[in-house]
Amino acid sequence: MYLRLFSIFLVLGLSTILAQKPKVKQDRLENRIFELAKFGLQENGETERVAFSDADAAAQKWVVQTLKGLGLDVHIDFAGNIIGKRGGGNTSLKPISFGSHIDRVPNGGNYDGCVGSMASLEVLEVLNENQIVTKHPLEIIIFSNEEGGVMGSRAIAGHLGKDAFKVVNSTGYSMGEGIMRLGGDTTRIAEVARKKDEIAAFLELHIEQGGTLEKENIQIGIVAGIVGLKWWEVEFTGFANHAGTTPMNARQDALLAAAKFIVAVNEITNSFEGAQVGTVGKIQAEPGAPNVIPGKVITSLEIRDLSSKVIEKVYEAIKTKGEEIAKGSNVQIEFRPLDTTADPAIMTTSIQDEIATSAELLGLSTKRMPSGAGHDAQDMALIAPTGMIFVPSKGGISHSPKEFTSAEDMANGANVLLHTILALDKKLD
Ligand code: GLV
Ligand code: MN
Ligand code: MN
Repeated sequence: MYLRLFSIFLVLGLSTILAQKPKVKQDRLENRIFELAKFGLQENGETERVAFSDADAAAQKWVVQTLKGLGLDVHIDFAGNIIGKRGGGNTSLKPISFGSHIDRVPNGGNYDGCVGSMASLEVLEVLNENQIVTKHPLEIIIFSNEEGGVMGSRAIAGHLGKDAFKVVNSTGYSMGEGIMRLGGDTTRIAEVARKKDEIAAFLELHIEQGGTLEKENIQIGIVAGIVGLKWWEVEFTGFANHAGTTPMNARQDALLAAAKFIVAVNEITNSFEGAQVGTVGKIQAEPGAPNVIPGKVITSLEIRDLSSKVIEKVYEAIKTKGEEIAKGSNVQIEFRPLDTTADPAIMTTSIQDEIATSAELLGLSTKRMPSGAGHDAQDMALIAPTGMIFVPSKGGISHSPKEFTSAEDMANGANVLLHTILALDKKLD
């Protein structure tokens, strides 16, 4: 009897404590996701917003205006990142920073990057509504061009080199041109870099982009580590000639060699033990006519793993096989590394623990897990204690218009973000 009464009081007490906790507004968060999806909306109902496009620039302006409306001190840094600052009670403390990205892959979805970005706005709304002044200054960062090589976060981490400016994305703009389009300045990029430990902590909320949380019915993922990824451009040079008059044994068919190479990338990546992944996601054949043997082909090559050594090992094996294929096909092959590299990153254990505690206090189930997707957080981890919060992706689908995360899951993640910020504010100097 006493035990029963005690448990009732315990449950009532706990629910009162939870009820007092500031919470995000699920509808407002979801509406902002819908609002953001209007930038780049196409006639088919899907949104296109690759970095540097007009839609990306327009969305950037909308976020800036929204942040100003929330009373933040906002500017675009020289790398095109949106930086919004909210003062804290103790001006001698370093900021707690958080954010994500609003650019998208071609034919992408409404949630990748957008959830973390709109949840960060929602957190600021809730702090304002509850008149909470944190000890630390807070800083929201909406990173530029995450999808094309974590550009904005690499600039902040101090390793966006000049070679990166030459990399062109599907808009046709190079990173250098894109930075200028977004209000940055390539000649002053070094000024964007923060010193190590200038930021007290960095947090990013993101959709999982895989199917583990949904499958295991878990509400919050706590990222333990993020894969590194490397990109190359692979060029095959053969000889463009008449498709009707050139005998089969006298051809230098660049596309045929590229086709064999694509199969080899898959086989070689699979041939090693481990969770490494290798992908050819892009191909361009010239001159591109049914009656001309392709003389030149450029493909992409991407390799990811939690270890840079494994990426290197898989690459060397692919390169050797590629050269063998080229020789056997009587074409030339060239591997050109693109300056879009993101190194593998371990998330700070104490921040992981803080995320876990905040989630548990909110009554949410958690799981520590790796991230197979790249994120701005992996570059921020080079200069600040960093943590990432994942929420479930329906069907594990991402980088697709079919990407979906429910409003409830987004709100759960935003609440964990909010309460982790508040907990870190209490604990950190
Ligand atoms: C970023 O979304 C990546 O993992 O490619
Ligand atoms: Mn992405
Ligand atoms: Mn993303």
